[in-house]
Amino acid sequence: MGLPLSLVRSLDLTDPATFAAHDPRDIWPEARRHEPVFWHEARDGKPGFWVVTRHADVLAAYQDADRLGSARGTVLDVLLRGDDPAGGKMLAVTDRPRHRQLRQLLLRAFSPRVLGPVTERIAARTLDLVRSVTGRGSFDFATEVADELPMNTICDLLSVPDGDRKELLRWNKMALSSEDPDSGELDALGARNEIVLYFMDLALERRASPGDDVISMIATAEVGGARLTPEEVALNCYSLILGGDESSRMSALVAVYELARHPEQWDALRAGEVALDTAVEEVLRWATPAMHFARTATQELEIAGRRIRAGDIVTLWNTSANDDETVFASPRAFDLARTPNKHLSFGHGPHFCVGAHLGRAGLRSLLSALVATVGRIEPHGEPERVHSTFLFGYRSLRVGFRPR
Ligand code: HEM
Repeated sequence: MGLPLSLVRSLDLTDPATFAAHDPRDIWPEARRHEPVFWHEARDGKPGFWVVTRHADVLAAYQDADRLGSARGTVLDVLLRGDDPAGGKMLAVTDRPRHRQLRQLLLRAFSPRVLGPVTERIAARTLDLVRSVTGRGSFDFATEVADELPMNTICDLLSVPDGDRKELLRWNKMALSSEDPDSGELDALGARNEIVLYFMDLALERRASPGDDVISMIATAEVGGARLTPEEVALNCYSLILGGDESSRMSALVAVYELARHPEQWDALRAGEVALDTAVEEVLRWATPAMHFARTATQELEIAGRRIRAGDIVTLWNTSANDDETVFASPRAFDLARTPNKHLSFGHGPHFCVGAHLGRAGLRSLLSALVATVGRIEPHGEPERVHSTFLFGYRSLRVGFRPR
């Protein structure tokens, strides 16, 4: 059913408390039906912005990169404060033609030659971790398992020394201030600076003596006839962590939580009645870790009959698009066998997630390790949600894994 439209129109979508108070899926159904594109009024000194809710409109907006640009920023929180300082330098917040050049470079980090060994390591690491917590009674899946997975994968990709990884994870959680409602914007800014400075040092080191790793590759390549500056190298290394760590971690947490809550789905998965790859897509749809992405109109355009002016901020709500009943039958059912499954969890069009293959491989390894090792997944209390207007997921999830 969802919240009444009048209430939805009065919600402050810039406040993480809004998403803590409501299941994000309850916010959108009435808007999709009656006012699929609406204007969120300016408040508390923050500018207003457009809210796009239907699958077809979100998809078309992702595709329309010429009229809906990314260079001013793609996350609402950042855009409301002004332009993203990484604009034009970091892949995700760059527009054509520079975006295409940078993307070609970054895609080399995701070639089969690089990814083959990385995905093998993901599978082995995930199986070890799942085995280590199985039969142990109640444990926190967030800190004992999920924390260890994507960050290590991305650090493998970048050949970040083992000893530095814990610190990077801590900074990254602070940078997105998703763990602690009390951690402030200054802490977040400090953490982001630490990460960029850390990668600038590595970039200079590897430029001086390149190895066979992705940082060396980015640091020594030419883009549009010139090498990237150390800051650009660092920002693009950071963008892999920004794009890949939290989103993959959140989808792993949502997978385990939903399997614990839906024993019939877990049984079907264990019995091999559902293909792992099909199940992975439903976990991604259900989790929708990036609740929205945002754009800025570079010229006047229309979306669903609403006139958008040049300079307006436009937010695209993946959470709503992935629940659109005109695209998904019974969208509120967690159905691992769902096909087709045209979710927008990885976005669409020119900025489609470059790490989608890795994100999928991580989830596939998790489901496969659970099926091989675990008999029953027992919920132990309610999980704690992350505190964010951007990310959906959990910072703590207590469960027990009974051995097969
Ligand atoms: C882009 C989601 C995993 C790196 C995106 C976008 C989405 C997304 C929705 C589009 C952003 C936009 O249009 O503005 C996810 C989800 C993941 C995941 C849900 C896991 C379940 C990863 C991984 C990496 C990664 C593992 C890297 C190792 C990136 C980068 C971009 C991106 C660099 C920018 C691409 C561009 O602008 O051309 N991701 N992602 N992501 N993602 Fe992912």
